[in-house]
Amino acid sequence: MAARGAQARIARRVGRGVVAAALAGCGGAVGARGPAVRFPEGFLWGTATAGFQVEMGCPTLERDQCEDRGSDWYAFATSPQTIASPTAHLSGDPPTSGPGQWELYAEDFARASRELSNDAYRMSLEWSRIFPEPTDGAATTDELRALASPAALAGYHAMLGELRAQGLRPMVTLDHYTLPSWIHDAVGCHLDFASCERRGWVDRERIVREIAKYAGFAAAEFGAEVDVWATLNEPLAVFYPGYLYPSEERSNPPAVLLQTEAAKTAIFSMIDAHARMYDAVRAADLVDADGDGEAASIGLVYNLSPVYPKNADRPGDVLAAKNVRYLYDEVFLRAVALGELDDDLDGDAEVRSDLVGRMDWLGVNFYNRIFVEQFLLPGLAILPGLSPLTTFNPLTLEYDRDYARGLYESLTFAWQRFGRPIYVTENGSPPIQGYPEQDRFLIENLAWIQRALADGVDVRGYFYWSLIDNYEWNQGMGTPFGLYAVDPSDPTKRRVARPAAAVYADVAQRNGISGALMSRFPIDPRS
Ligand code: BGC
Repeated sequence: MAARGAQARIARRVGRGVVAAALAGCGGAVGARGPAVRFPEGFLWGTATAGFQVEMGCPTLERDQCEDRGSDWYAFATSPQTIASPTAHLSGDPPTSGPGQWELYAEDFARASRELSNDAYRMSLEWSRIFPEPTDGAATTDELRALASPAALAGYHAMLGELRAQGLRPMVTLDHYTLPSWIHDAVGCHLDFASCERRGWVDRERIVREIAKYAGFAAAEFGAEVDVWATLNEPLAVFYPGYLYPSEERSNPPAVLLQTEAAKTAIFSMIDAHARMYDAVRAADLVDADGDGEAASIGLVYNLSPVYPKNADRPGDVLAAKNVRYLYDEVFLRAVALGELDDDLDGDAEVRSDLVGRMDWLGVNFYNRIFVEQFLLPGLAILPGLSPLTTFNPLTLEYDRDYARGLYESLTFAWQRFGRPIYVTENGSPPIQGYPEQDRFLIENLAWIQRALADGVDVRGYFYWSLIDNYEWNQGMGTPFGLYAVDPSDPTKRRVARPAAAVYADVAQRNGISGALMSRFPIDPRS
C-alpha cells in the first residue's frame, strides 16, 4: 500500500553522494563511469497491474464490452452515497476513467516487451467479470462454466495469449482487492455495517468457499497459459483501511471505522481463503505452461513496510512499533507461510495442519516505511495479550516514502523469517510532489535488492508498479504510477513514456544497473 498526505513528506534520510563502491563486490563489473551491478541469470523483469485499475476506460469499445460494473469497488467508487460520505474518502473519479487496457492490451504488452525489454508481466483477473452471478449453487467445473461470462473468459485468454506471443511470462493474481457485489454489498455495508447482508470477508464461511471455487475454476480454465499464481493481493490493505481506519491515504470497502471484530474476522477469512485457493489451484492447474517442469507455483502478495518507533527513546513508542510490526508483518505471513495461526492475536500461535505448506513463494510489495507513536485507546486494542491498550495512533502515523533501504530490510526479514523464494511484486513512485523521483526511486530500490541478493536472499524477479497510469483506488486518477503516462481526459488513452521507462529498459536489457546509472543515482548500500 503506498503512502500519501502531507504528513508523509518527511525528510529523506539516506545520505547522498556516496558512490556505491560496495556493490562492486556483489557481482559488479566496472562500467563506463563506475561499478556496475548485475542480477542473477533468469531474474525476471516485469511491471505489475491489476484488473480493476487498468481494464476500464476503453477508447472505442462499447461501454458494456469494456466495463465491469459487478464488483464491490465499482459500486463503492460510483455510488452517490459513498462519494458523498466523508469516511469513504473517495476522489469521485469513476473507474471508467481508467486506461482501457481491456481494449489496448496488445499495444501495452508490446511496449513492455519491446520498449522495456521485460520478460514477465503481473496482471490480475477480476472475479466479478468472470462470475457476474453468484456461484453458491455450482459445485463442478461444468456448473461453474455455465455461470461464467464467455466474454470475460475470451478476453483473458486473448490477453494471456498475447503475453506469450510477446515473450512475457504471466504472473496472475486471482484477487486484487475487488469482490463481486453478490458477495459484498460495499455501499450498504459502508452506510450501515451492523445490518448489511452481504458482508464480504466478514461472512467467513461463504467467502472462503466461493473464492476457492473461483480460484479452482480459473486455474482449470487458464492453467495451460499460466504457471505462476498469486492468491490474494495485500490482505493488510483490505482489513486496515476496510475495517479499522479508512483515510485519504487509502480506503477500501466497506470503509468502516474501528470495527475490530470485523477486522479480525477479515484477517482470518483471508488466511483460510489463501490456503483453500492454494489447494484449489494446485488441484486444477496440471499443465506446465512454460516447460520448466512445474505446472503451478502459488504464492501470496503482501505489502511490507518496516515499522519504526517515532521516538526511539520512548518505551511506549517502541512497544507500539513492536505491536504494529507483529500485527502487520507476522500474523498473516506466519499463518500462510508456516501454518502457525495466532487466532486470538495474543502472540501465541498454534500449528493448523490445513495451513501448512501453502506458500511456494512470497510476493513483496514495497513502497515505504512507517513511524508509529504510542496511543492509548481501547477501541484499537486488538492485541490485548501483547500489551494492554498499547497500539498506535493512526492520526500520527507517518509514511517515509524515500527509504529504499526499507526494501532490503523487508526482503531480509521475509527471507529469514519465512524462508520462501521472493518476488518483488510491486515497487514504484508516481512523478508527483511528495514522492521520490521515479528513476531515482527505481535505481535505489534495485541497488538494495542487489544487496539482499548478495546477502543470500532468494529474490527471483522484480515487477515495477506500474506499466501505465491507472485507477489508484480511492485516489482515482490523481496518483499516476505509470512508466507510461495516460491522460484520463484523452479519449484515445495514448500512452506516453516517462523518462524512467528508458532507465528501466536499460536495466532489464543488461540484467543489471550500468555504472553510469549507479553514478547518477548514488546510494550507499552499506548504510
Ligand atoms: C496496490 C496497488 C496500488 C499500489 C500503489 C498497492 O498497495 O497493490 O493496487 O495501486 O499499491 O498505491
